[in-house]
Amino acid sequence: MAILKIARMGHPVLALRAREVPDPRAPEIRHLVNDMVETMIDANGAGLAAPQVHVPLRVVVFQAPGTRSDPGLSEVERFDHTCPLTVLINPQITVLDEATEGGWEGCLSVPGLRGWVERPAHIRYRGIGIEGEMIEREARGFHARVVQHECDHLEGRLYPSRMSDLTRLIFESEIRHFQQAG
Ligand code: NI
Repeated sequence: MAILKIARMGHPVLALRAREVPDPRAPEIRHLVNDMVETMIDANGAGLAAPQVHVPLRVVVFQAPGTRSDPGLSEVERFDHTCPLTVLINPQITVLDEATEGGWEGCLSVPGLRGWVERPAHIRYRGIGIEGEMIEREARGFHARVVQHECDHLEGRLYPSRMSDLTRLIFESEIRHFQQAG
């Protein structure tokens, strides 16, 4: 296992459309996934896409712990809002409701910044897991947001290009002041 170097905004690998993984069970894919998980945890990220570690393949890893979701949710509602560490190879997203929700996003490839991004609040996603199994889930809230953010990386998109109001692109260190002034 190894901690990989993370590409930052401006590196061309982040602007490419990533390629399908022809054999999700190949040993080199397992190796890549292990390194991506280690890199994500080391960098304290909620998700990481393979292009961010200079590999233009359709692989993402992410997690949506309960601590990142709205504390006001009931137990039943919380179900679609959380997910354990997940590997998705060749993922696909279906938007189940066009209604959007705004939230602050950060990205390991855009260090130090946060931006307010509107995204569909309810999606279904599917993809192949690390054991070659099919994963299919519905997601809401932060869970839906992190999956869409990571899958955008596979299309060569970073979250600032999803923002409609660039006055809400700020330094993470100022978020407290920004919210107080809001
Ligand atoms: Ni990102």
